[in-house]
Amino acid sequence: MTDIAVKITAKFALARDVVAIRLAPVNPSDRLPAFEAGAHIDVRLTDGLCRQYSLTNVGDSEAPAQYEIAVARDAASRGGSLAMHDQLHVGSRLSVSAPRNLFGLDPSHQRIVLIAGGIGVTPLYAMAQQLCKQNVQFQLIFCARSAVRMAYLEELRALCGDRLLVHADDERGHPIDLDAALRAQPWDGVYACGPTGMLDAIADITVDWAPGVVRMERFTADPAVHAPGAVFALELRASGLHTEVAANESVLDAIERLGVAHSFSCREGICGSCEAGVIEGTVDHRCAVLSQAEKDTQQMMMPCVSRCSSEKLVLNL
Ligand code: FES
Repeated sequence: MTDIAVKITAKFALARDVVAIRLAPVNPSDRLPAFEAGAHIDVRLTDGLCRQYSLTNVGDSEAPAQYEIAVARDAASRGGSLAMHDQLHVGSRLSVSAPRNLFGLDPSHQRIVLIAGGIGVTPLYAMAQQLCKQNVQFQLIFCARSAVRMAYLEELRALCGDRLLVHADDERGHPIDLDAALRAQPWDGVYACGPTGMLDAIADITVDWAPGVVRMERFTADPAVHAPGAVFALELRASGLHTEVAANESVLDAIERLGVAHSFSCREGICGSCEAGVIEGTVDHRCAVLSQAEKDTQQMMMPCVSRCSSEKLVLNL
C-alpha cells in the first residue's frame, strides 16, 4: 500500500522528554486505515529517515481521523527522535505507512498481563484501551526509572484504576521484581514492550512457558543479527534472477543489488516491512518479528537480517 501524506495537527508533552504527535491526512478527503491495538506505522521523516511508532489512539481506531504516536527523546538517537522533538512542529508534513500489526492481542487470551518499560508503554496503552472495551481481565505493570518520564500515566490511572501497577525505580529504590510479577497469577497472555534488558529478563523467566503465551515487541535489535554467515546461492524465482549472497551481505542487500525493488524500513529485523515468501531453503531466522511457530514453517523470512543455512535460498520475488 502506498504511503499517506500527513501533517502534524498537534504536538504536546506527555512526560519529561516524551511528546505526543497527532497526524492527519494532508488531503481531508483521504481516509486513514483502521487499526487494532499493537499496530505501528512507519513514519518517513523529511531527511529520508524512517522510524516505527506504535499507534496509541485506539478509541477511534475503526475510522480514525488522525493517528497519535508518542516519541521519547533518545540521547543515542540516529536522528529520528531528535528530528521529531526539535525540528518538526504543528503543520510539518510527513508520510506514513498504513498500520501494520505484529503485536496484536490474541483473542484467546483471557487473563492478561501487560508489562511496559519506559516508552514501551505505547502499544500497551493501546492494548489497555482495547481490553477495557472488550471487558477482558488484565493488569498493566508500568515500570520506568523515574515517574516523571512515564508517558500517558494519568490517562492510564483513569483508564485502568487498580489494574495499573506503577513501579518507578527512583521512588521504590530498586527495580521491579519481574519474576514475582510474572508468577503472581496464572496469566495466559503476557505482552511486554520495553528496553532490551527487561525483555531479555522476561524471556529468561518464561523460557519454559507454553508457546504463544509470551509476546514481546522490541524497539532495538540484537547486534548479533548482523553477524556474518556462510555464503549461499540466492534465486528470485518470480524475477528469474540468481546471485550469491556474500558472508557480510544481507539477503536484502543482494535483492537490491539485483535491481529488484523490495519494501523495507528498519533493516534490523524488527518492523516486518521486508517480509518475503520462501520457496526453498532453510532459513537462519534472526528477526524479532516472526513467532517461533511462523519461523518453524520456513515459509517466510525477513531478508534484512535473516540468512540461509542451506546451500540455496529461493524467494518468491
Ligand atoms: S526492514 Fe524491518 S524487518 Fe526487515
